[in-house]
Amino acid sequence: MELDHVKTIDASPHAATLIESFRDVGYSLETALADIIDNSITARASKIDIFVDTLSDSPSISVIDDGCGMSKSELWDAMRPGAKNPLDSRAAEDLGRFGLGLKTASFSQCRKLTVFTSRDEIPSAAIWDLDYVRDNNKWEIIVPDDVRDIARANTISNSGTVVRWDNLDRLVEKGATEPSNRELNRRIDEVIDHLRLVFHRFLASEPGHEKISISVNNRELTPIDPFNVRHSTADPIQVISLGLSTIRVQTYTLPHHGRVSAREWKDFETPIGYRDSQGFYVYRARRLIISGTWFGLARKEELTKLARVRVDIPNTLDSDWKIDVKKASAHPPPTVRRELKKIIDRITATSKRVYTGRAEPRVSRKSIPVWKRVQSRDAISYEINRSHPAIARLTDNVPQGLQTELNNVVEIIQNGIPIDSLFSDYGSDPTSVERGQVSPESIAMAVDAFWKQMVVDGPISGDDFEDLLAANEPFASNWDLAKEALSALRFGGGDDE
Ligand SMILES: Nc1ncnc2c1ncn2[C@@H]1O[C@H](COP(=O)(O)OP(=O)(O)OP(=O)(O)O)[C@@H](O)[C@H]1O
Ligand SMILES: [Mg+2]
Repeated sequence: MELDHVKTIDASPHAATLIESFRDVGYSLETALADIIDNSITARASKIDIFVDTLSDSPSISVIDDGCGMSKSELWDAMRPGAKNPLDSRAAEDLGRFGLGLKTASFSQCRKLTVFTSRDEIPSAAIWDLDYVRDNNKWEIIVPDDVRDIARANTISNSGTVVRWDNLDRLVEKGATEPSNRELNRRIDEVIDHLRLVFHRFLASEPGHEKISISVNNRELTPIDPFNVRHSTADPIQVISLGLSTIRVQTYTLPHHGRVSAREWKDFETPIGYRDSQGFYVYRARRLIISGTWFGLARKEELTKLARVRVDIPNTLDSDWKIDVKKASAHPPPTVRRELKKIIDRITATSKRVYTGRAEPRVSRKSIPVWKRVQSRDAISYEINRSHPAIARLTDNVPQGLQTELNNVVEIIQNGIPIDSLFSDYGSDPTSVERGQVSPESIAMAVDAFWKQMVVDGPISGDDFEDLLAANEPFASNWDLAKEALSALRFGGGDDE
């Protein structure tokens, strides 16, 4: 088709209106800041300092890095929406894709974006001012005369970049004139936790990579590693190939709360709790994109709440995974979904073992539970163990006329176990669910019953009796009382063996 014969009319966007729409791509303060930090990391910064100045009359946020900086023409290009073609291939460590983030992330939070940058001590600066664009309806950036005048520009020694946001109109909640200090501090804490998680692999030492320091208002961020690699069980890395690219998947099963301190259990709980934070954690070039999702391939079950799966994808697969501008969503392509489903099936079984392994009955010489877990073909029930020495002795001693009544009461207690509330309390905070106190009399009665049934009438030798008690409740949790009852028994009537 000859262009001469084609009728065209100008349909270029209205700057004043389109730039306002740019503001609503859906960023939050934390995802917007993460997008700016992405640029600093891509520029090979080793130190990134964020200053949130909300106390002054004109609040601002600055992100300062010591990366490679930009030349004047690179800066002018960088300020352009669509600075780079999303179809171009990028270096493996490049966290960008669309040539948009610097602008869209900034406009989502502020009306004035200033970038000061220096490459080999040659400074340049440029400003996007949405009020200027609105008034002039032109895609124009402002180039300030005196670039060194820009706040915090003097913190850059040789090369580096300052991204500064002014007119933070989105930090103020609708209806409020200005955010309260308390509200702002809460928001900053949320930002900090988000960054500690999203960039945790940069904040920690990883083989083959330099550690990066990130601070917020001079507070150095420490990494939040969602996998508790020190105490989790890690499966071997599995590789999924997609064309020439590879995806690496590693499954972690977090330790059961009985195996870590209460503090450690809380640390890995995350603000949304264990159950909601199970699932895949997808990292693109080591940067966390999306966390705690099974991609609709499985439900978030209580029993699988300790499973977290690290998925590493390269930036060559961005379009296959539908990575968005905000770097906050991803969708695995169909071939990968099938592999992930198999992984879920496998880890579901493993997680189940961690949990039910603790509740499984082992009516052996060593373990005599009060409650038995009974698994039939399609249901699980919990029953009071009537051969437990204390219960058996009561049954034996109750007069014939009261036997039926005793049986009925045991059955009522057994079927009245408050599964729902136990499940929900335990699910929301296992450390808050405690066993009740057992009185010294009950312990002494139970020690006596165990002695009679297991030693006098049973297979256990007197020497093994202490071991037997130590392996069973309520003695293990009340060991001092159990020892006392044991010595009283030995001293008093223990010789009737
Ligand atoms: N802190 C920085 N240091 C050096 N160069 C930067 C910095 N921030 C941005 N740039 C340059 O500006 C360009 C545009 O940044 P922008 O965030 O808009 O897009 P992107 O990072 O290429 O892609 P995406 O839209 O996915 O973020 C970058 O590609 C980079 O060359
Ligand atoms: Mg970017």
